Amino acid sequence: MHCIKKITDDLIWVGANDRRLAMFEGVYSVPCGVSYNSYLLLDDKTVLFDTVDKSVFRRFIENLTFALDGRLLDYLVIQHMEPDHSDTICELVLRYPNVKIVCNTKTVTMLNQFYNLDADAHIVKENDVLCTGKHTLTFIMAPMVHWPEVMVTFDQTDKILFSADAFGTFGALNGALFADEVDFNADYMDEARRYYTNIVGKYGVQTCSLLEKASSLDIKMICPLHGFVWRKNFTDIISKYLLWGNYEPEEYGVLIAYASVYGNTENAAEILSSILRDRGIKTVMFDVSVARSSDIVAEAFKLSHFVFASTTYNAGIFISMEELLNDLAAHNIQNRTVGIIENGSWAASSGKLIREKLEKCKNLNILEQCVSIKSGLKDEQITQLGAMADAIVIDISARVANSGGATSSGGGASASSVGSGSAVNSGSATSSSDVAGSGEVAPVIDPAAMFKFSYGLFVLTAKDGCKDNGCIINTPTQIASLPLRISIAVSKSNFTCDMIAKTGVFNLSVLSISVPFELFKQFGFQSGRETDKFTNCGYADRTSNGVRYIPEHVNAVFSAKVTEAYDYGSHTLFIAEITQSFVLSKEPSVTYQYYFDNIKPKPQPKIEKKKGFICKICGYIYEGDQLPPDFICPICKHGAIDFEPL
Ligand code: FEO
Repeated sequence: MHCIKKITDDLIWVGANDRRLAMFEGVYSVPCGVSYNSYLLLDDKTVLFDTVDKSVFRRFIENLTFALDGRLLDYLVIQHMEPDHSDTICELVLRYPNVKIVCNTKTVTMLNQFYNLDADAHIVKENDVLCTGKHTLTFIMAPMVHWPEVMVTFDQTDKILFSADAFGTFGALNGALFADEVDFNADYMDEARRYYTNIVGKYGVQTCSLLEKASSLDIKMICPLHGFVWRKNFTDIISKYLLWGNYEPEEYGVLIAYASVYGNTENAAEILSSILRDRGIKTVMFDVSVARSSDIVAEAFKLSHFVFASTTYNAGIFISMEELLNDLAAHNIQNRTVGIIENGSWAASSGKLIREKLEKCKNLNILEQCVSIKSGLKDEQITQLGAMADAIVIDISARVANSGGATSSGGGASASSVGSGSAVNSGSATSSSDVAGSGEVAPVIDPAAMFKFSYGLFVLTAKDGCKDNGCIINTPTQIASLPLRISIAVSKSNFTCDMIAKTGVFNLSVLSISVPFELFKQFGFQSGRETDKFTNCGYADRTSNGVRYIPEHVNAVFSAKVTEAYDYGSHTLFIAEITQSFVLSKEPSVTYQYYFDNIKPKPQPKIEKKKGFICKICGYIYEGDQLPPDFICPICKHGAIDFEPL
């Protein structure tokens, strides 16, 4: 029996759902099924937009026959030749032998390749129109979204975009056809992301090219080949497509994927995740041996940072981890920061091999802090994991600062840490998504707001026996003048914190604006547990308490004695009395903002707008200002005439 849905007075959904399919395209599990959408326009002429997979042919024909109500089918517009939309074309042509196929030249070739169908087709090219009575259809080529022959159709009369694979979603339609009939963001956005990123994700440039073409259209409705029809609020899904197409993350957060045979690599991943969570950073963990690769790829498009932790296996990367890395590279993943953890009981090499693989991807900032484990974790690796967490926090902070907070923070990232000497954090953060569905609107903690605090930057030094050490902090505050008291909050992961807790004395050197980035690296990017941070520094100055201070790029020095200490989770708050202070120069103190604006090297530039030409036939991209007139597309062998500027 037919089961159709009316979209407008003369447009009807005649598609069908499959909830028994295990693996879509043989690769992607679809536990909630999938819909194959087909649309019938009833105008002076009758027009069908695409057919369906053969698995749902019977329902589709029942729907079409009922919707046609005795009329014949005049046109079949083929927008996409992938068999989940074309496998019933031959059956359709048998039933409606006078139907005119409307398609582009590439589709004609594929009709022959797949079905030995020599179609006497009405061939269309970019911006050709077809009038069907009241409606005027414009055809827009969308090569490689997702196959080279893909085109979309714009109904100028009702302002409807038939978008082929674009804006599709995994999941069967359960009675609702329109996205606004369900809680799409809560219940379906993850599947929309999994669909786009896995199916079309490799072709971000081509997707953006289609979005640019679509931006000039006055679209009132979008009808994709899978999932819901969009008739309102579709700016949300379009903005997601802009991020995905440009390989920009949706959220600040860390995807931690690990491959662990006996649990030790997993242990490292868990500890790192725990440290990051303590610092307010969202983490999502996957055991690559059991997680669906399509889920990891989708999450990779969502989050800003990755950590790959892998045991060494047969002198290589663990199998499922290697598959994941290949999959991510195949999907063109880029513009992310990546940390690597390796494990190996006798010849750890997975870290180096992961790095080599990732270096072939575009715009991946691979952290230098690789953690190397020999079988089980030891104390020094805990420190290294802390340093990796520091580096990630710093990188997220820089990205937040550079974006003006444009990308949301899944868990909230503190702005106030520099190097291992990370200072006070924002603590826990609540994102609006954490409370979705609870019925309550929880206050949002926007990490970007943390940047509105003004901070100075200081080298905090301590001495325990023969050991000198120091770190960078930004938290000293004068809390009283009689008696003169200051407070400092110091991350408990810093060795300096342990030393002050033990000895009760410290020095603060107030950094001034001439301070070079090297000094931040010296005191902020390494741990005093493993290194002597004063090696080769060229000075040996100490205050009367015996603790070293920094005589260069510093305008004042304080010595202090701890009077009280308070445990605040990630940090210890020390209250201290000043025992000595002196001024070294008139140079202004450096602020946290000044550090980011003038001292810290700028992060990798964001994705540049590509200059080049795209093959209208297959979507191949030629990068460059000028396309040689005799250029031949290496994929489809068409000449320069079939290219257009990006
Ligand atoms: Fe559902 Fe690319 O096809």
